[in-house]
Amino acid sequence: MASRGADQPLRIGVLASGAGTNLQALLESVHGNEALVVAVAADKPTAGALARARDAGVETAVFPIGDYPDRAARDAAIAAWLIGHDVELVVLAGYMALLTSPFLSRFPDAVVNIHPSLLPAFPGVRAIEQAIDYGVKVFGVTVHFVLDDGGIDTGPVIAQRAVEIANATDPDAVHEALRPLEHALLPEAVRLIARGAVSRDPDNPRRIRVAGAGDDTPG
Ligand code: GAR
Repeated sequence: MASRGADQPLRIGVLASGAGTNLQALLESVHGNEALVVAVAADKPTAGALARARDAGVETAVFPIGDYPDRAARDAAIAAWLIGHDVELVVLAGYMALLTSPFLSRFPDAVVNIHPSLLPAFPGVRAIEQAIDYGVKVFGVTVHFVLDDGGIDTGPVIAQRAVEIANATDPDAVHEALRPLEHALLPEAVRLIARGAVSRDPDNPRRIRVAGAGDDTPG
């Protein structure tokens, strides 16, 4: 991650595909404080996140896959656009396309994703449906780093939060129950990163250490 002065807000670029409620949570919390959302990009022009960004005075861009020969070329264009905005941290807030190496290699240890399951359970698409079909009683959300490791939702976990739902059958109802968790957890994780409180455990780089959080005690 690029170095910056301690009192400089962390410059964030957000990628989104959907309604953008997680972007909104960032705009209403860390934006203008520890961090600045300076650029929001979507893979389709219909993403509600774009209007939310424009309403907040944040620059937007759309990168439809049809405009590029392949995903790698599209991802290189997104990366160049974000770098042009001096983005230091990329937040995937409901971004439903997989990112390729040309993107991830430009932002080492500087891409985070929010996923609606307790990883490593239920990675990939339709996470909530997967969890319901499995019959779990505890649902949850994960914020994790995205690495150029060839996996899907496999990067080191930064933060997780859970909720018990005993007899879940309706994905929309579970999603509604998870939304408040997401809208709290993503800004919390971004705030910790902006404060420099997040690092890799040298003994096991899969483990993320959060300064100030208790060690080996229930959180
Ligand atoms: C969120 O629930 C997020 O966890 C999920 O998309 C939704 C976006 O909502 N992301 C994934 O499923 C990524 N695999 P939003 O557009 O309202 O922020």
